[in-house]
Amino acid sequence: MGIPIYTYDAIIVGSGLAGCAAARELQSAGKKVAVITKLHPLRSHSGAAQGGVNAAFSDKDSVELHEFDTVKGSDYLADQDAVEFMCKNAPETIRWAERMGAAFSRTPDGKIAQRPFGGQSSPRACYAKDRTGLTLLQTIYEQAYRVGVEFWDEWYAADIIYKDGKVSGVVAFNIRDLQVAVFNAKSVMFATGGYARSYKINSNAHANTGDGLSIVARHGLPLEDMEFVQFHPSGLSGNGVLISEAARGEGGRLFNSLGERFMEKYAPNAMELASRDVVSRAILNEIREGRGVGPRKDAVFLDVTHLGRDLIMERLPELRELAMTFLGLDMIKEPILISATAHYSMGGIPVNIAGNVRKNNSQYVEGFYAAGECSCVSVHGANRLGANSVLEALLFGRFVGKTMVNEIDTIPLRAAQEDDAKRALDEINFILNNNGNETITQLREELQQCMTANAGAFRTKETLEIAIAKVKELRKRFKNIRIKDKSKLFNTELQEAIELGHMIDYSAFIVESAIARNESRGAHFREDFNTRDDENFLKHTMAYMDKEGNISLDYMDVVLGKHELKARNY
Ligand code: FUM
Repeated sequence: MGIPIYTYDAIIVGSGLAGCAAARELQSAGKKVAVITKLHPLRSHSGAAQGGVNAAFSDKDSVELHEFDTVKGSDYLADQDAVEFMCKNAPETIRWAERMGAAFSRTPDGKIAQRPFGGQSSPRACYAKDRTGLTLLQTIYEQAYRVGVEFWDEWYAADIIYKDGKVSGVVAFNIRDLQVAVFNAKSVMFATGGYARSYKINSNAHANTGDGLSIVARHGLPLEDMEFVQFHPSGLSGNGVLISEAARGEGGRLFNSLGERFMEKYAPNAMELASRDVVSRAILNEIREGRGVGPRKDAVFLDVTHLGRDLIMERLPELRELAMTFLGLDMIKEPILISATAHYSMGGIPVNIAGNVRKNNSQYVEGFYAAGECSCVSVHGANRLGANSVLEALLFGRFVGKTMVNEIDTIPLRAAQEDDAKRALDEINFILNNNGNETITQLREELQQCMTANAGAFRTKETLEIAIAKVKELRKRFKNIRIKDKSKLFNTELQEAIELGHMIDYSAFIVESAIARNESRGAHFREDFNTRDDENFLKHTMAYMDKEGNISLDYMDVVLGKHELKARNY
């Protein structure tokens, strides 16, 4: 069978908030748009965001405070022009989402309700109970569908067509039957989401395997600030399932095995609402020093019982359900067991504010854009504040869609060829036919265990060197895989093999970038260099991979602004 070629004005890969928002902008402006997604759009990980989306609305808050909190939270690595853009446009973005149909929780006098979140000077997170992401995703997907965006559900984007400094399409296959197709377009946007699945304990969906990042990196394009991996303080003990910061925002408290409210030691002012990196390290430190709780002593207590049934049922019903399902604990009656979980990745595909993908520090790739968690703009720097990620996805998704509308008519359509699919076909054929003795589950397990143990919330040169040796070993062993399922019908084993290849590649970026950053900043905590070093490391990492998988590093200036560098205390 030949390879079908489909032609559109724009292709979006990923159907979370960023992808759907961009697609809706393009289609509403009369462009022909396809969204390629390996899931059904409503299963995108944006739907798992629980606690809220930030905007400075109230009389006691301001855009400037939102900027300040974001820059401080980022440990001064965020680009302040991008932060200003995001915070200034946040209130309008929330109003837009509301006009699209999103039903936010309200105050008794009818305003959009806002709750406190970590590292914020004012209650700023607008929310829909504890299902904020799902509410927004349902709304924006519905609106994108309504204007005529074509969704290619359960199609796996396997490659970009990148030639002569320009991206002119995507190669994808139908997960149902492995039919490969070329999607030709003037412009392409990646909105492929997060990638914390390379850690054993994580809060991410199974789909969050960093496909977009590795596809880009395999073409020699850079990834930015990959060493900054966020550990959310409250994942359910044992499996990492997210228990929203909303629980602490509403007044939840953390206790160790001695019954101490231990955040008093680590962040005496902000307590449980210090920034995520600070609270996560405090929890892990309590556990390391033997004050953990639970059967394995690898958790701490999160207690919301004092909030009472009514408030919990009104504002945190999903969290209660999750703790009952996975731990058999009812947070109305008793504390639950939580610990830090790999949650969010601050680094990603480098872009400017308009969403254009960088080829290097000074040049851009024509026709190629990115937004949302897979991108690095960089509004989060070294550590993201809670409820800024849903904001980033919605806001930049929409604005990058507008950039694409403005630029699309200046970009010529390149004629696609069947040969554009060669790389993707070679990868599929290798995985289907290779007859080695390594299994995908074994290699993935070793990767996840190793990343958690050696490239987690605490790192040293020594642990990171163990990690990079393992990643290199896994890359070699991957050449010797064998999958049992040789069929073409819903071959999930083949898909998992492709995803594992991506996880190995982007993990190498995380580890190599972390080895070279001899300081501690935000989520990157080096026990052997435990202070921030602005003189040598106030800069973004730009990492490149060669054909053998070796990583080389370059650096790019941080965009500074009115928020001056200070020590970060909470
Ligand atoms: O805790 C949470 O609800 C997560 C929100 C976020 O990561 O922004």
